[in-house]
Amino acid sequence: MSSTAIRPALPTTAPRPAAGDARANDAWWRDAVTYQVYIRSFADADGDGMGDVAGIRSRLDYLADLGIDALWINPWYPSPQADAGYDVADYRDLDPAFGTLAEAQELIDEAHALGIRVLLDIVPNHTSDEHPWFTEAVSAGPGSHQRARYLFRPGRGISGEVPPNDWKSIFGGPGWTRITEPDGTLGEWYLHLFDRKQPDLNWDNPVVRDEFEQILRFWFDRGVDGFRIDVAHGLVKDPTLPDLDNHPHRSEKDGGWDGGWDGGWDGEEASHLLDAADRSNHPHWDRPGVHEIYRAWRKVAESYHPARVFVAEAWVVSPQRLAAYLRPDELHTAFDFDFVTAPWNAPALRATAMSSLHAHDSVGAPVMWVLSNHDITRHVTRLGRPSADRARDPLHGHDTEPSDVALGRRRARAALLLELALPGGVYLYQGEELGLEEVEDLPDEVRQDPVWLRSNHTERGRDGCRVPFPWKASGPSLGFGEAAGWLPQPAGWAGPDGLSAEAQDGDPSSMLTFYRTALRLRRELVAAGTLGAGGGASLAWLDADRLGPDADQLVAFRREAGLACVLNAGSSPAHLPAELAGARVLLASGPIEPGVLPADTAVWLATD
Ligand code: NOJ
Repeated sequence: MSSTAIRPALPTTAPRPAAGDARANDAWWRDAVTYQVYIRSFADADGDGMGDVAGIRSRLDYLADLGIDALWINPWYPSPQADAGYDVADYRDLDPAFGTLAEAQELIDEAHALGIRVLLDIVPNHTSDEHPWFTEAVSAGPGSHQRARYLFRPGRGISGEVPPNDWKSIFGGPGWTRITEPDGTLGEWYLHLFDRKQPDLNWDNPVVRDEFEQILRFWFDRGVDGFRIDVAHGLVKDPTLPDLDNHPHRSEKDGGWDGGWDGGWDGEEASHLLDAADRSNHPHWDRPGVHEIYRAWRKVAESYHPARVFVAEAWVVSPQRLAAYLRPDELHTAFDFDFVTAPWNAPALRATAMSSLHAHDSVGAPVMWVLSNHDITRHVTRLGRPSADRARDPLHGHDTEPSDVALGRRRARAALLLELALPGGVYLYQGEELGLEEVEDLPDEVRQDPVWLRSNHTERGRDGCRVPFPWKASGPSLGFGEAAGWLPQPAGWAGPDGLSAEAQDGDPSSMLTFYRTALRLRRELVAAGTLGAGGGASLAWLDADRLGPDADQLVAFRREAGLACVLNAGSSPAHLPAELAGARVLLASGPIEPGVLPADTAVWLATD
């Protein structure tokens, strides 16, 4: 079988805004490719086993060469690290393990000089229990204004021994912990929707609102370009704190970071899930009150020049609910998790993309396509599960259906072309450009995710997608640092044929080369006006009539100016749609033959 050369004639350097004017374009976020740096696992410059700011700075050239527009850096604040930094003890500094404020400033400035924007991660739903506000609240006693920054309540039962309500922690176990009062007696309970070391803040308290606006300003004043908002749908609670049992909502898992995934493209429950009235009545997820907070934040962002931006992590039950966060006076963008959970088949992928575009169009916001992040099973592994539905398994559960990672990688290449061709922006998770798989066989004793502990070791948790980045083919942590990393890397990542950046660099068939090529070509096409933000209207789907005999395997669309993308998500080769059969191939995710697209392969075609 002869395969068509799939090497497009591309310039070796992508057009990049010249340093200095790099931040002049206020609408940059509409079609940006943002790279998520999971700081603990990216690059360790000081050899303590944990990544750091100096490590990120040492790899900025790699990121610029990859062709990304922005970085999102996971929390780097002082933290006991009970939840990998999502337990913040001070929002205006860095944890010494990661670096100093001065180093952070250097990083921001150096990234800007390369034309790369920097987004940080803000955690407004909860603080650490080691945040001064919380320690003051415990000392100040019941009824104090310090306690009113959190959700403290007396217990139920004869001596207050029963939690105030039945809410659960997303990580497992009860959502309440009882404190010992300053006089030594057992006292009030505080709410924590995550770990007990992450007390929820009381967003009905204006002091909390004011504090977070000032935190935003603190970082915006240092040139930070925006924030990813942690648990953006969780801040506001029903003040009566009703029990969830018998409450008119669907389930306490809906809309949690690990619970929104079943509200995807269709399925039996979809009509119920889309019932906005039910959903808005959940006592702690996606309550209408959150929108007022984000309207105020938007004003803060727009008081800067260039205006700063937000991306919401909001696990809500439908694209319509998500779009409500993206009205013109609210947040700019939100991760599109429906795409993460869509099964690998053509009708599902197409329906997911269509419904996301449709909902976002209704508010004029671009979709932010995502395949992986630090909370979900890496997509190489998900897409390599034998049954299509395993693609819907983002949650690191205990289901150990083995994954065919070679198949997963083929699909991952195809999925990248699909998401990069759709209107909107894209978030990449560090290591996906190397084709890293989930590390599913970490020894139990090294696991650090609170999910593992709080589920009594029944849920593996998220460590398997957080394993340190393999920069080199050999060395104590494959170039991550001078010493072993905080989690061990699998043997298969080492060596000249392994997955390290060093091993893949310059190899024309590697995942890294494919990412660099695709991102460079996309940047060219965006600059030429062929691809980019647009909305649903900048894309025309090919319907079944135009797709031809293999319609049920294909997802295909044309962009407004001369580009078509076709994906074969079926299990056998498919004929390209007749109207595209003769089109020039710009880039393909794998070997192709004229007019035929093998299974799990996508292609970009020039249509004029
Ligand atoms: C979502 C974050 O992505 C996750 O890592 C964290 O555990 C929870 N929010 C709680 O902050």
